[in-house]
Parts: sequence; C-alpha cells; structure tokens
Amino acid sequence: KLADIGLIGLAVMGENLVLNMESKGFSVAVYNRSTEKVDKFIEGRGAGKNIKGTHSVKELVEALQKPRKVMMLVKAGDPVDSFIEQIIPHLEEGDIIIDGGNSNFTDTIRRTEYVESKGFQFIGTGVSGGEIGALRGPSMMPGGSKSAWPHVKEIFQAVSAKVDDGMPCCDWVGANGAGHYVKMIHNGIEYGDMQIITEAYQFMKDVLGMSYDEMHQTFKKWNSEELDSYLIEITADILAYKDEDGEPMVEKILDTAGQKGTGKWTGIEAMHLGVPLTLIAESVFSRFLSAQLELRDQASQVFEAPAITFDGDKEAMLEDLKMAVYGAKIISYAQGYNLLMEASKEHDWELNYGDIALMWRGGCIIRSAFLSDIKKAFDKNPGLPHLLLDDFFKEKVQKAQTGWRKVCAVAVTNGIPVPSLSAALAYFDGFRTKRLPANLLQAQRDYFGAHTYERTDKTRGEFFHTNWTGEGADTVSTAYNS
Ligand code: 6PG
Repeated sequence: KLADIGLIGLAVMGENLVLNMESKGFSVAVYNRSTEKVDKFIEGRGAGKNIKGTHSVKELVEALQKPRKVMMLVKAGDPVDSFIEQIIPHLEEGDIIIDGGNSNFTDTIRRTEYVESKGFQFIGTGVSGGEIGALRGPSMMPGGSKSAWPHVKEIFQAVSAKVDDGMPCCDWVGANGAGHYVKMIHNGIEYGDMQIITEAYQFMKDVLGMSYDEMHQTFKKWNSEELDSYLIEITADILAYKDEDGEPMVEKILDTAGQKGTGKWTGIEAMHLGVPLTLIAESVFSRFLSAQLELRDQASQVFEAPAITFDGDKEAMLEDLKMAVYGAKIISYAQGYNLLMEASKEHDWELNYGDIALMWRGGCIIRSAFLSDIKKAFDKNPGLPHLLLDDFFKEKVQKAQTGWRKVCAVAVTNGIPVPSLSAALAYFDGFRTKRLPANLLQAQRDYFGAHTYERTDKTRGEFFHTNWTGEGADTVSTAYNS
C-alpha cells in the first residue's frame, strides 16, 4: 500500500513529526541523505509502525499515493533548493513539495513560483514547538500554492496542537511566502518575550536581591495569572534547576546569547516596511551586545556601576514588574501585528489575524493565554488597525503603565539595563503623543538639504521650503518616503 505522505530529513524534528503523523493513523515513507539514519530509525523508534524506509529520493516518491506529498524538514537554505531539484524529476502534475524548515519567506516566494512553473505545487510551512512539539502537536503555519491545501489539510490539522475543545493550531495562512512570514514573526515575538523575561530576571536578582528560589516562585505565580505562557513556565523551571554542586544551573551558563537569524530577519523586515518594531529589534541587539563579551569585560573594568539603592516595598515592586512585563508584551505583539498588516498589504496575502493568533495559541514556543485575548480582539473587529486600539488592550496598557514606569525609572536609576521594557514604554509614549518633535526634524532636513516639509495649516501633500539662511537657492530636493 502506498504511503499518505513522504518525509525527507530524519533529524530529531523530522523523526518526531513522522512518529506524530503515524500515531494519527497516516502511513509515512521516509528518506534521509545519509541512509544509515533511515535504517536506524526503522529498526529503532520507527519499528513496528506504519513507516516505510526508502534509500533514494526516487524510491521515496514512488512509495507515495497521488497527489504525492513530499515534505522536507532539512536545514534552511541551499539544502532545500537541492532537494527540490532532486524531487522534481520524479513528480507528476499536481504533486506537492512541502518545506517545513525555518526558511526565509523570500526563498519561499521564489520556490513557490518555481515549483508551480514546473506544473507542481509548493507549500512552505512554519512548524513551531521544538522536538516535543513535533512529536505531540506543533503549531503549523502553511502557505504557498492554495490548491495544495485541501490535500494536506487533514494530515496537518490532525498532527498539530489543539486548543479550546479541539481547535487545531494550524490553518491556511496565505499565498507563496505567507506561512514562513508568519513563522518569522512568531520567532521575532519569541525573541521579544525571552528578552522581556530576562530583563525581569535581572531586575529581580540585582535590584530586588531575590534568591533563585524566590524568583522561581514568582515566575510560577506569574504563570498562573495573565502572563500564563510556555516561556514563563520554562523560566520558572530553569530557575529552580540546580547543578550537581547544588548551585543554580543558570549561574554557570556563559552570558552570551546565540541566534540562528529569524529574529534578525524580523527586524530587517520591519526596516524594509517602515514599521516601528522597537521591542523585537532591541531584543536582537541585546543578543548582539551580550555576544560582545570581551568588550563588555573591558568596559566593566572601566566604568563603575551605580550603587543599588532600592529600599522600597519588594512585593509592591514585584507587582509593578509584572505590569512592566505585561505592558511590554502587549506592545511587542501590537508591533508584530503592525508588521504583519503591512506585509499583508505589500504581498496581497489577506492575512487573517485572529486565525494567526489561534495558530500560536498552542503548540508553539510563544503559546500563551494572552493569545486568546488577541484572537478575541480580531474576532470582534477583523479590521482592527492596531492592537492598542482594541478596548481590552487599551485598558490593560493604561492600567499597566503606572507600575511599568516605576520599574523603568528604578532600573535606570540603578544602572540596570532594561532595553526592551524601556523601548516598549518609549514606543507607547510616542504612539499616544499627539504631537511629536518630528516638526523640528523636518525643519532640520529642509535647512540643510531643502528636503521640504508639510504645514499644519495647509493640506497634506503640499510641500514647502524655507530659505533658512538667506543663502540657499530656490530649488528643492525631491521628496521621497522610504
Ligand atoms: C520554534 C522556534 C525555533 C527556533 C529556535 C531557535 O518555533 O520552535 O522558534 O524555530 O529555531 O527557537 O532560534 P534562535 O537560535 O534564533 O534563538
């Protein structure tokens, strides 16, 4: 009997996804570039299951039911293109190639067009949730050739995570690169959430002088309240974990953050589309700063840190800190959605923002109770222009700001860096300020480069130039918006 789906790439994610598919009643054919892995898997974790090992791409494709579905879970970049070339000669019209790696959406746009031009279909899908997610139910964000969706929907939705009485955390996202774009934003938000949490940790440790057990308890408590989320939950676990000598494990870990690039892509995209995505950008820069270990070491010897002067009510400050984390988190998601909305316009994706929140609600790294509130906001008003303009979030941010401001003030006074908490607050203040100082900036541009400005007392789109020094010519430079 021919298999329902084929999978290339038997690293941990691939193996786990295959086992997940098989456990839901689908037969799977598998292939890996180094074929010993195939045999090892079939004799090991895959033994006695409805999984067929194959030793070439041709054999894999021939083992599949039509339309054939060949899914790759291989390293993003060249390996994906190389496998596409190897798969194509064996396909028939209407067959489907699926890329489940963390591919850049621009590659997915290109590959969709290419594979479609050959008469086949292409899906680029975000898969989130790490190893455990792949095995027990990941969040899946598929995009690409829409006509392929009905053929994979059943398998994808069966293996994906479920929330609220069985709603699958997987739905069609949109054309070409839309699925991988949404996964990229997911990862950017993941960077932001992680950075916010680490700032709260440093504040607890260095300003409030809390022990690891106290911090563990606090994160555990936070996880039972509005911050209920996977990343808060694992942070509580991590803080309780002791090394063999009984010391907290995190104390032994070098403070230099790694990254594979998806957060950076999100920041670059925000720059491309002109979206103020300050919190995620700060979280990427914070990783870069942490990686400048030697420079930081030198600087720490040159500059003296201000003495910690906090002697207020610790419990009250912890409530404020929770509000700072919550407020910043709202800003981060609002900024992420702002970018999604611009991208949707740019690429004609017609993204469904409520559905995206539901896809992230379970299975993935940023899963949280909070995403239900986002889903509700977009269900209530699918045309909501900005998350902060939703009544629920407006009220929450307004309530959070008092504690949040206190935390930033205390951190700044005590010399504790809170780049994401403070950047988010600065964004909020900028966002709600009727008149920003960009009038002066426009005057400066016009002064030195005749870049022109618009006036408050004239209609938009009419541009003026002032000869500020009396020496300038009357020619103005052409206005442009980046
Ligand atoms: C997921 C994650 C995953 C990502 C890692 C590492 O959704 O399961 O986002 O795709 O690769 O979290 O990311 P960095 O190495 O860039 O931190």
